[in-house]
Amino acid sequence: MALTMVAHTIPSALQEVSAPITTNGEPLLNRPYAMAMITSRTSALSPPCRSLVRKVEKQEVPNVEYKCSISPLRPELSVAGKTIVVIGGGSGIGRETALAFATAGAAHVALLGRTEATLKETAALIPSAGKASSSVHVSDLTQAASLKTAAAAVGEWHVLVLASAYCSNRAPVASSEVDDWWKGFETNIKGTLLAAQAFLPTAHPSQAAILGVTTDVSLMPTTYLPGLSSYVASKLAQAKVYEFLAAENPNIFVATIYPGMVETDNFRRTGGKAEKLPMDTVQLPAHFIVWMASPEATFLRGRCAWANWDVDELKAKKDKILEGLFMTAGFKGLPEGAHL
Ligand SMILES: NC(=O)c1ccc[n+]([C@@H]2O[C@H](COP(=O)([O-])OP(=O)(O)OC[C@H]3O[C@@H](n4cnc5c(N)ncnc54)[C@H](OP(=O)(O)O)[C@@H]3O)[C@@H](O)[C@H]2O)c1
Repeated sequence: MALTMVAHTIPSALQEVSAPITTNGEPLLNRPYAMAMITSRTSALSPPCRSLVRKVEKQEVPNVEYKCSISPLRPELSVAGKTIVVIGGGSGIGRETALAFATAGAAHVALLGRTEATLKETAALIPSAGKASSSVHVSDLTQAASLKTAAAAVGEWHVLVLASAYCSNRAPVASSEVDDWWKGFETNIKGTLLAAQAFLPTAHPSQAAILGVTTDVSLMPTTYLPGLSSYVASKLAQAKVYEFLAAENPNIFVATIYPGMVETDNFRRTGGKAEKLPMDTVQLPAHFIVWMASPEATFLRGRCAWANWDVDELKAKKDKILEGLFMTAGFKGLPEGAHL
């Protein structure tokens, strides 16, 4: 029986609603990174992906104050004094997430991945984003020992972000090269398990959050995604692992994020063509992840949310979301209100 994300029970809001940047009154920081934080939002994730709330469309307006509900400059999203661990911190969404947490006031950002050079590049960018110290831990998610070494070096942490993935070479199931196909599961599933086992023992006892970056393609009809069986199946299964982590660790906030479409190495491996798709800026998921780690998002424990969802509207729907299995992995096609 195939798993899929439960979106069918969610009221559909297929049409794009254009919303101006919301105001919270923070001044734009006079830093290079802050200037780059003007978030452009164009991805509609139009059908077949449906939305629980309207999607935020922010205009790219140079030299305008950045004022947004998911801005890491908002005091409500502050991670002052906290230690942030980003696996996959050497590139793409992970790198930008590390910078966003630095902007949100993190005390320390620990960067994990296999490539020392790219991790060091991210570390070199941290001072442009905030005052956080940083550390580089060359680690392979598929190797328990290297993750345990990194966890021991980092010590107590507050936010753990898994922004890593492997997308196997695109091929039909029948002709996929087995080792490459399985590498998707080794990285995305075994890697999630090993990271959890390595880092759970050193989680802050009452303020820890684990945020996993999964993928919206796991919602799409498989006919839209030729050759992506390993990536889609492993990332969908990954969403369920995070739900278990949430259920089994009541002292830790665990949730997952669909980042939208961002041009990265991983995106290119999926066969995505940025020139043909409504792309997002990398800041959108990075800033959304900072919001997900904040007290404002605690009602999303064990749930998955899209980075382009309007968080103010999401907060307003809190009671509805908590009523059922909204935004969790499950079966499609069951009648409304059906229970086992
Ligand atoms: N970009 C998109 O449009 C999009 C859409 C949906 C979901 N996502 C998700 O977003 C997350 C971030 O991906 P991205 O788009 O930012 O792509 P990316 O830039 O290619 O980042 C992937 C990261 O994973 C790390 N990684 C891969 N295998 C690893 C391993 N065995 N051990 C440790 N680290 C490993 C890579 O670093 P090393 O190679 O140095 O180890 C790299 O930094 C992924 O979970 C992906 O599934 C992205």
